[in-house]
Amino acid sequence: MARPLTLLGLESSCDDTGAAVVRGLPGDAQVLTSVVEGQNSLHEAFGGVVPEIAARAHTERMDVVVRHALDTAGVNLSDLDGVAVTAGPGLIGGVMSGVMCAKGIAIGAGLPLIGVNHLAGHALTPRLTDGTEFPYLMLLVSGGHCQFLLVRGPEDFSRLGGTIDDAPGEAFDKTARLLALPQPGGPSVESQATKGDAKRFRFPRPLLDRPGCDMSFSGLKTALLRTRDEVMQDNHLKAQDRSDLCAGFQAAVVDVLVEKTRRALAIYLQDAPATPVLAVAGGVAANAAIREGLQGLCADLGVAFTAPPLSLCTDNGAMIAYAGLERFARGGQDDMTLAARPRWPLDQDAAGMLGGGKKGPKA
Ligand code: KG4
Ligand code: ZN
Repeated sequence: MARPLTLLGLESSCDDTGAAVVRGLPGDAQVLTSVVEGQNSLHEAFGGVVPEIAARAHTERMDVVVRHALDTAGVNLSDLDGVAVTAGPGLIGGVMSGVMCAKGIAIGAGLPLIGVNHLAGHALTPRLTDGTEFPYLMLLVSGGHCQFLLVRGPEDFSRLGGTIDDAPGEAFDKTARLLALPQPGGPSVESQATKGDAKRFRFPRPLLDRPGCDMSFSGLKTALLRTRDEVMQDNHLKAQDRSDLCAGFQAAVVDVLVEKTRRALAIYLQDAPATPVLAVAGGVAANAAIREGLQGLCADLGVAFTAPPLSLCTDNGAMIAYAGLERFARGGQDDMTLAARPRWPLDQDAAGMLGGGKKGPKA
């Protein structure tokens, strides 16, 4: 039997400084510890992530976060089999900061260095949490990502579609801003929506009339802005109007995600996988209405549904350590020429998507 591997994973592609230790084998691994230090307070005043501030904070905090992770896992550098690090895609300053730190640790401790695609980290998380067998369909929905990935193997991904403009989390955040609700917008819009009437305002369901799995969310906020201005009186929005707007907006996002997932599942099911699984990841996967919609769809189609716990849905070092473990177990590793990449599509054959995310260029 193969020997379990112990990997340190570093994540710094956006506004979370993450370090984690994962131990085990592909499809059978445990998170020994996962430390994530967010930067919300640093960016709050600017209404979005400032790349230079993010990069500086990663540089200042990564070694502290790594130390904390090793200590809480009760692991020394000599217990590790390798150091995995996000090498892209993401905000380049932050990615470079993580890659430099990982190189320092690898060279200092004489450990193999394994560069990991951040999106592969998200996409392989169901293998870490549930040992999910290939092939499965992954819907990645966060503030910066939105795509359907057919995951056939640890390094074999096909993108079936994705957003051509904003990511859904970005749309939730902009909606919150337009309605003077606190950031991050997802949870505040969701909580308002529970008090609202989703049928009062009918927002567009972009691209549903077109075939395929591509999505668009940028038109929704324009529609919301127009409707808000129609119902506002003397620059004041009544509480019920705000809740109804949130409910209408959320219903539109749910409808689009569910219908596009139905189409992506149809493509995935063509190959008749033995145990079909739909997995979701990303901060937006925390939304109860979206989860319910996807769960209902899966129940209708006889497809299992899995969503990692929120701490492993959002950016973290454990998913990077695990993706590194999968790669290293197959003989993959890098040398000191490993470069940070702002763009790095998982599916090299898929055409580039338009736009990126609020947090910089993506895949
Ligand atoms: O994955 P994540 O932590 O970071 C990246 O974007 O990489 O996702 C954050 C996004 C934010 O846009 C936030 O508003 C959204 O996820 N989000 C939600 C909910 N919780 C977080 N969106 C909808 N409903 C939620 N409950
Ligand atoms: Zn991410």
